[in-house]
Amino acid sequence: MNKKLKNTNKAQKIYTNSKKIIPGGTMLFSKKPELHLPNLWPNYFSKVKDCYLWDVDNNKYTDMMFYVGTNPLGYCNKNIDKEVIKSIKKGNLATLNNAEEVALAKKLIKFHPWAQMVRFARSGGEANAIAVRIARSVTNKQNIAVCGYHGWHDWYLAANLNNKKNLDGHTIKGIDTRGIHKNLRNTVYTFEYGNFDKLYNLVKNKNIGIIKMELSRSTYPNIKFLAKIRKLCNQNKIILIYDECTSGFRETLGGLHLNYDSFLYPDLAMFGKALGNGYAINAIIGKNKIMKNVADTFISSTFWTEKIGTVAALSTLKEMQRIKSWKIIKKKGQYIKKNWRILFDKYNIKAKISGIDSLPSFTFETHNQLKKTYFTQEMLRNGYLASNIIYVSIAHKEKILQEYFKIFERVIKSISQNDPNELKNLLESSLCETGLRRLN
Ligand SMILES: Cc1ncc(COP(=O)(O)O)c(C=O)c1O
Repeated sequence: MNKKLKNTNKAQKIYTNSKKIIPGGTMLFSKKPELHLPNLWPNYFSKVKDCYLWDVDNNKYTDMMFYVGTNPLGYCNKNIDKEVIKSIKKGNLATLNNAEEVALAKKLIKFHPWAQMVRFARSGGEANAIAVRIARSVTNKQNIAVCGYHGWHDWYLAANLNNKKNLDGHTIKGIDTRGIHKNLRNTVYTFEYGNFDKLYNLVKNKNIGIIKMELSRSTYPNIKFLAKIRKLCNQNKIILIYDECTSGFRETLGGLHLNYDSFLYPDLAMFGKALGNGYAINAIIGKNKIMKNVADTFISSTFWTEKIGTVAALSTLKEMQRIKSWKIIKKKGQYIKKNWRILFDKYNIKAKISGIDSLPSFTFETHNQLKKTYFTQEMLRNGYLASNIIYVSIAHKEKILQEYFKIFERVIKSISQNDPNELKNLLESSLCETGLRRLN
């Protein structure tokens, strides 16, 4: 691979400065350059369109990541942007509310007939905190059992107050609890996906009133597990919440749970990411008997009344319905998984492929960190933003996927031809850091 890596001097300089004045360097953990290619990652974008991204150093890339699942209908989707721009020109925030939020709420209820009420927020962490507040407002059993990643808020990270490892496997390993009030100790407990016995024991011994989970983790939902949970909730008057901030609107027009028996449906659910196709909007939907209590609590925020999010979501949903995007995305994901498998096998590389079809990912079974760093470096050299996970988008057109696989094959072949020491010598950056275990 003798092409030179692209010049990203400007990006590196900005990031070095950023770390001096923005603690942590980035606002979203997953967009830390160190997770991808330390000191060489392009870091900042100047422009995006369809499947392409231009960085601040004026390099153009094909984006095979679409981090973190916010643009399933492609960057700057023509129809969605047209509606958003039209709306911006008429004003985004005003003394009065935007009526679009009512239209959006109606649509979400129509897609999820088990739910009768909706609230909106702008981030997934917020949506989760709102759902927890609503649920706690209607149950005397205030403790929560969680499975999966649910954002950065205190109610969730409190799970690590007793042991820093409690959230391992759900989010980044060993999250520190500095800044989280110690009185939240013993209010939230974790259970592993598939481990019903652990959950059952929590319910029996820890005064659990709420179960909050991602209905799918690295594989498709485990129906038997979910059915047992739903039954447990029904028997113990526990509120069941599905966090579909990532899984929603990728494989169906709504929550992934719609693809399964209605017995499994939750009491509350959250959507984010895909819902606004690049614009900030999250929704919490739920049963009337729970949601109506919001009116007696205080859940309120100025910028939840802005219009871009709701207009974007309305036109995203229209566009999704028009082209049946979830079918296209699923098919593309299946194609990606199939071709990864073929090429890993062809070059005798042991790699595990996982994820639902719309969110495929792979892990090298040996020297994963080293091989992943090398893979990212070589894909970047060839003009691709690529990692071991793809948030599949309709912008990943057939031709783009074919071109991607040509380069993918060359990189995989070279991984197979070099032993770990040789690969290390070929790295122009230090090893990538290991971050959130999965999707964020
Ligand atoms: C399932 C789930 N819940 C919550 C969140 C948090 O969302 P946000 O980053 O918008 O706060 C994420 C983000 O990755 C997520 O995947």
